[in-house]
Order: sequence, then C-alpha cells, then structure tokens
Amino acid sequence: MYHILTSEQFKREELDELFKITDEIRLNLRDYNSVLSDKVIATLFYEPSTRTRLSFETAVQRLGGKLISTENAREASSVAKGESLLDTIRIIQSYADAIILRHYENDAAMQAASVARVPIINAGSGSGEHPTQALLDVYTIYKLKKKIDGISIAMIGDLRFGRAVHSLIRLLALYEGITFYGLSSETFALPEEDVNYLEKRGFRYIPCKSFKDIPEDVDVLYQTRMQRERFQNLNLKEENFIIDSSIINNFSKNTLLMHPLPRNNEIAVEVDKDPRAVYFIQAENGMYVRMGILYSIFKKDN
Ligand code: NCD
Repeated sequence: MYHILTSEQFKREELDELFKITDEIRLNLRDYNSVLSDKVIATLFYEPSTRTRLSFETAVQRLGGKLISTENAREASSVAKGESLLDTIRIIQSYADAIILRHYENDAAMQAASVARVPIINAGSGSGEHPTQALLDVYTIYKLKKKIDGISIAMIGDLRFGRAVHSLIRLLALYEGITFYGLSSETFALPEEDVNYLEKRGFRYIPCKSFKDIPEDVDVLYQTRMQRERFQNLNLKEENFIIDSSIINNFSKNTLLMHPLPRNNEIAVEVDKDPRAVYFIQAENGMYVRMGILYSIFKKDN
C-alpha cells in the first residue's frame, strides 16, 4: 500500500492482509501504541466530517503518531487566498509523512497523488469514491457474517451521488458470487458506469422499485442518505426509502442493516435497538481499520 485513492486499486489478498492486521492491532493495542512515533500525519478536509476525520486522527494517535490538521480547509487554509489544491499538497508534504484528504472534487485525490511524494489517503472525493469507508464496510460484513463470497446486498437511497456506494461495489467485486440489489428512485439510480463495472465482472445487479423487490433473506441492507450538497443546483425530486420497524421486520433475523452515517430520517431511531442495526459497530470498526491502513502504509519503516 502506498497511496489509497480508489477501491479499484486493491487485490483480494491485500484485503485479507488488512483485515488480519486490523484484528491483530485491535487485540494487542499496547503493542502498536508507538509504531508511528516518528511520523506526523496531516488531515486536510475541505468538506464536513465527523467519523472519517476523527477516526483517522484517533487512529494516528493510538499508533503513537502526531497530527497536523485543517478541518475546514475551504475557509481556513490558504485556499481561501486562492491557493490551488496542488500547491497546498506540495507544501504540506514537506511538513507531514502522509496526507489524509477529503475534497469536493471527484478527482482531487488522484490529482494530489500526481504531485505528492508522501502517501495520499483519499478520505472522500466528491461524489466519486470513499475507499476507506468501503474497507471498513467490507471488514464489518466479514466480521459479522464470517464470509463475503456469496452474500447478497441491497444498497438503498442515493446511489447516484453516494461515494460510499461507488467504492463499496468496487471492493465487493473482488469477491465471488455477490448479488447486488439497488433500491432508489430513477433520479438517484446507480450510474451506468457502476452497473457496467459489476456486469463486466459477471455480477448480477438488480434495480428495485420498493422494499418488496428485495428478498427477505438478503444478507445486507446498506442504507444511505440523500447527498443534498451534491445536487443543490440541479432541482431534483428526492424520494426517500425510509427504514422503520415495520420495514426491517419484513427481513430475516440474519439481515444486517448498515449505513455509512450520518443519517437523516432514512433510518428511524426506533430501529437502533434492533440487533440487526449495526451502523454504530460499523463506525467503531472504522477506527480499527484505519489503524490497520496506517500501519500497513508505514510498516516497511518499522
Ligand atoms: C459518508 C461520506 O462522507 O461520503 N460519510 C462518511 O464518511 N461516513 C457518507 C455520507 O456523507 O452520506
């Protein structure tokens, strides 16, 4: 691992490896609490974040690394004075050993990597990709289902602008026999490019119009919020597919309900106490997977 830019860069064996080291770190936290002691990591966030930034930052600290951070780079960094992203990267890389970047442009991480001589970690780029979210999602499925091959997953909500979904399907496509369902209005359907990505690799993608089109024994329901900030100027008609107790109760007791969070109203709060609701576990796993990612990037230095 060097840069982490897109889910497409991974091989299945690398995921096996990452999940193994994540479990190892998780069980032996003390043994890993100084492995990044000579590293300074920068978090450079041009968009809001709670989980991604704070879980990365705590991951750095729990591994003994130090941080420099701009949580509000659009207003608080020299971008506000007209500096380009690439110039910003050129500067920060002389201060930090890796840059964790969230940006509103789809190709921001790729652009950054083209000039960077330190690892760039894509922490979400526009409506394009969010590979570390997908890594923690797949890890969560693996931990809770004990397998990934052969599962079925229904992705729900904003499949058009949701970068978490775009990265998740690419990671799951490394496995075998996965069946993908997509429940959204036509306006927010999974982009053609993503459907093709799956079909070219021999997967079935089944678009759905209502919860009734999803088999009751589906392994994973992956709910997402409307990505309003991406379509403010497009005048699109939103349609929400809300999961409340009456909906979740139509599904098997083994179905997992996941969500990258933050949620709006697409999962009713009453569902939180259902043992199938695993989104808070998913968020917690994010910290451990990000420790695994950081360790893997720097392990040759240890
Ligand atoms: C996601 C994101 O930023 O894309 N959030 C996250 O990182 N957990 C999903 C979202 O914002 O809806």
